[in-house]
Amino acid sequence: MTRVFSGIKPTGHLTLGNYLGAMRRWAEVDQHRSEALFCVVDLHALTVDHDPARVRRLSRQAATLLLASGLDPERCTVFVQSHVDEHARLSYLLECVATDGEMRRMIQYKEKAAREQRRGGSVRLSLLTYPVLMAADILAYGTDEVPVGDDQTQHVELSRDLAVRFNQRYGHTFVVPRATHPKVAARVMNLQDPASKMGKSDDSGPGIVYLLDEPEVVRKKVMRAVTDSGRDVVYDRQERPGVANLLEILAACEGKDPEDLSGAYASYGALKKDTAEAVVEVLRPVQARHRELCADPAQVEAVLRAGAEKAREMARPTVDAAYRAIGLLPA
Ligand code: TRP
Repeated sequence: MTRVFSGIKPTGHLTLGNYLGAMRRWAEVDQHRSEALFCVVDLHALTVDHDPARVRRLSRQAATLLLASGLDPERCTVFVQSHVDEHARLSYLLECVATDGEMRRMIQYKEKAAREQRRGGSVRLSLLTYPVLMAADILAYGTDEVPVGDDQTQHVELSRDLAVRFNQRYGHTFVVPRATHPKVAARVMNLQDPASKMGKSDDSGPGIVYLLDEPEVVRKKVMRAVTDSGRDVVYDRQERPGVANLLEILAACEGKDPEDLSGAYASYGALKKDTAEAVVEVLRPVQARHRELCADPAQVEAVLRAGAEKAREMARPTVDAAYRAIGLLPA
């Protein structure tokens, strides 16, 4: 069976973009057709300035929301990265295969490091090595497919390169993974700035719908979304990015096609109203399930503990094999 691995970084509250672009598909499709692992990648949240209490809180919340979104621990493995030592163990070996030059070419590193330097801050070394840890996340599990957003393609490419290089140098050890990009609503854009992605790490803003936003808050944010000049509702990503984003969100919520939907609306106002209601309805069951899970934190902890145990068992043989292959003396 195809092995699927994906991760979600606890650096902010999860958004509608995370849900429609990734989590919903993990629950509806991936966990049924593959052997899937979904990981709250908390170690990755330490690569930039962080508040320990906040990371802890967001990690617990992300795990709870993964379960609330329909991931079933009977069908897939849901766990927290730092609970499984194999990620860090393998990451070091891969650092001995990756080069300084290839790490510095990573677009996200260049962007984030530049931003940090502009602010006068310092760049953590882990920000540079972060894609190696991500490669370890993926390679430790013999992963075939990595469902991610476009912004992660380069990191998955690096994982492929490292797997191939390791295998050539030290003997076949790793499956060479590939990135997959879900077709529908892969990219929900910021409601106030439809040129940029609705990212969770951005400052809380009126353009971001969070999975735990109350219905009234969701309505307000959608109704205030920026639209474009013009009046008629047409689906045109280039010329009408604001309207296109609303059409895509509505289409993703209702399982329809944005182009088809555009014909049904005579005004921006009507489109916003229906989009707001569609989002409220999509979030309703997730929020209800989240409330239930929060009432029983011991259950969530037990699920995560069992998930980590399962993950460790899957990862250990591969990571042990990599230790031997690279020349380390068996313990
Ligand atoms: N880097 C990813 C992001 O920022 C998160 C991530 C970490 C990940 N490890 C992963 C995604 C492994 C897929 C597979 O979104």
